[in-house]
Amino acid sequence: MNTINFHNGARSFRQLSAYLEARIRRGDWQAHEKLPSVRQLAQESGLHRLTILKAYQQLKECGLVYVRHKSGYYAAPPAVSARLDHVPAPVVFQGNMAALHQLPARYQFSQALIDPNLLPNHYFAEYMKEVFDLYPKLLGTYAQVQGDPELRELLAGYFRRSAQLHLDADELLITSGAQQAIHLIADIWIRPGDPVLVESPTYANAIDVFRQKGARLLSIGIQDGCYDLQEIEQMMQRYRPRLFYLNPTFHNPTGICIPVEQRKQLVDLAAQYECLLIEDDTCSDIYFDGKPPAPVFAYDTEGYTIHIRSFSKYISPGLRIACIAARQPWMSQLLAAKSLADGGSPLLNQKLFLHYFRSDRLHRHLDKLRIALRIRMEIMQQELDEAGWQYEQPQGGLSLWVRVPDHLSVPLLLRECLARQISLLPGSLFDIRERYEQHIRLSFSFASETQIREGMHELMIISRDINVQQRFE
Ligand SMILES: Cc1ncc(COP(=O)(O)O)c(C=O)c1O
Repeated sequence: MNTINFHNGARSFRQLSAYLEARIRRGDWQAHEKLPSVRQLAQESGLHRLTILKAYQQLKECGLVYVRHKSGYYAAPPAVSARLDHVPAPVVFQGNMAALHQLPARYQFSQALIDPNLLPNHYFAEYMKEVFDLYPKLLGTYAQVQGDPELRELLAGYFRRSAQLHLDADELLITSGAQQAIHLIADIWIRPGDPVLVESPTYANAIDVFRQKGARLLSIGIQDGCYDLQEIEQMMQRYRPRLFYLNPTFHNPTGICIPVEQRKQLVDLAAQYECLLIEDDTCSDIYFDGKPPAPVFAYDTEGYTIHIRSFSKYISPGLRIACIAARQPWMSQLLAAKSLADGGSPLLNQKLFLHYFRSDRLHRHLDKLRIALRIRMEIMQQELDEAGWQYEQPQGGLSLWVRVPDHLSVPLLLRECLARQISLLPGSLFDIRERYEQHIRLSFSFASETQIREGMHELMIISRDINVQQRFE
């Protein structure tokens, strides 16, 4: 019989009840198994019978035991909530960047999103009608897992003409945003403990995805807009990483663009050390000093590069259209992962995007957008220049990577700014070791020109107040 060991020295009914509870939860008695009688417990413990009864009463109230008339106390089957305790806890990773984006902001400098007033929203209502006239049964069917063939054909042609990417439609997979592409790639190729190279700084949400997969992250520095290729080679040689996630064109957060020569050398290293290059490209159409060089993918003759291209930011974030370009055997593996993830991106979104993308409105839109963004960037830079703050001059993209003066504490600045609904991102989010403590990322693409002026004024006042406060402390 299951006996009680009273060496724990229970003296009160509460202690006894806690002791019995722990043993019931541990499974010392199965559901519906009889518990020791009151008399037996009293004898073994030397406690009064009333104390034992009170302890059982308390366990009964908690639903851990029940009484059978004239028979005694029995272990109750676990309640639903208790049974759920045995279901493994969800592995939900709360990304830091996502949490900051959810805060309300009067001056939105944290999200690298484009002001909806600058996007071609009004055309989509028109296309909606057209698309349903052309494909009346559109919503009555699934999309192909790989994506709409018409859209993939169009994109393959576009990549051939505009970016020197020689691709077939079969080498493209449509995804729901670049974020999903990163996720699929991590799902396929990262197992816990796998070494993965990332840039420093790098896109914060990619860090979060790789961490969630248990990757062992190793960082590659960027100096004066270039990689240290020797460092990359040493890392590849020493750690044999499965993949190197890079954002070489209008890099988030710095806006730099890796030169052609380095792109060519990188693909040689990747082939030599059999390391996949995951080239993330979300902003190559947002340039300020002329078109960027061809993507790394274009220089790769061995097939070690997987190219992610998103159109989400500057056409329609709501449609979530992006694609992955990959050679075999990678494409088959990606297709299997995409099929498990969602069975294919929504067909309506793909058709709407297709109709806009093949019109010449796209090119006019991009020309105007680049001008509007450049103006906003220059306004923000003007405010920073007046305050004497330094920043990296971006060649493209949507944000400024700013170094705040040494005396200014970024956590303090962030706290005060958020309290006044000015949102920004601390530099430490963009690094696996939370370096860049003196950096912040300020996006100039969402706030209007007036909002940028006002918000930056307020931000500078806040920083001066912090400075004064710090001097008196
Ligand atoms: C480098 C980088 N990759 C991926 C993404 C996610 O893009 P999408 O909106 O297409 O999911 C972003 C968005 O900020 C980004 O900056």
